Amino acid sequence: MQSSKVTPGAIGAMKMRGEKIASLTAYDYPMAKLLDECGVPLILVGDSLGMVVLGYPDTTHVTMDEMEHHVRAAARAKPRALLVADLPYRSYDTPQAAVTNARRLIAAGAEAVKAEGVLMESVGAIVSAGIPFIAHIGMLPQSILEEGRYHIKGKSDTEGAALLEQAIALERAGAFAIVLELVHSPVAKAVTEKLSIPTIGIGSGKDCDGQILVVNDLIGTFPWFTPKFIQPKMDAAAQIKTAVAEWKAQL
Ligand code: KIV
Repeated sequence: MQSSKVTPGAIGAMKMRGEKIASLTAYDYPMAKLLDECGVPLILVGDSLGMVVLGYPDTTHVTMDEMEHHVRAAARAKPRALLVADLPYRSYDTPQAAVTNARRLIAAGAEAVKAEGVLMESVGAIVSAGIPFIAHIGMLPQSILEEGRYHIKGKSDTEGAALLEQAIALERAGAFAIVLELVHSPVAKAVTEKLSIPTIGIGSGKDCDGQILVVNDLIGTFPWFTPKFIQPKMDAAAQIKTAVAEWKAQL
């Protein structure tokens, strides 16, 4: 395992070497430290924290203040991993807002930012400000109110071709990686083969350059909802309940 700090360039080099980019979310100090000790090269303070930490129904309620608070906590772990933060809902509607808010997340300790969709002027402004940027296409959780449900994108030829075009445009605009969320797996494979930057999939099949999961889904600390494509590796909720029951019984 490498011991040097992971940079955006190092994430790109992993694609070149054919090394899978294992990425997970963390929203606080202990999880960021644990994942770093596991050698995870990319840690995302995702706005999924709205659901799995803050108890909101979706990510559209997450504020910049909340993101900064959690980025600061994760950054205190001083991970070797690249620490990426999500720009929350409507925080990058204009190029000016995108740069101001991306700078706030960087000041809080993030080393790169991610934003959903193809607001190309905002993406260009972030990249021109020298802030490493990860794009995110496919099913966009911040659009859940318009979409109505989480579903696979790119099943029709037209939608698949549009996703490929979006990915190419985002690479040209300077993104150093791209998250493909719930993208029809043949389309995710085609995007991965076409782009020079790494694709990081979630629910988009096995052919992406890396995979990202909400850590709570992987370890079972949010048992009330688990996306269909997840195969949890542990049932932490059950273990917590057993531990508490055993402790209570011996009082
Ligand atoms: O908010 C998040 O956690 C994400 C990833 C799951 C891609 O955007």
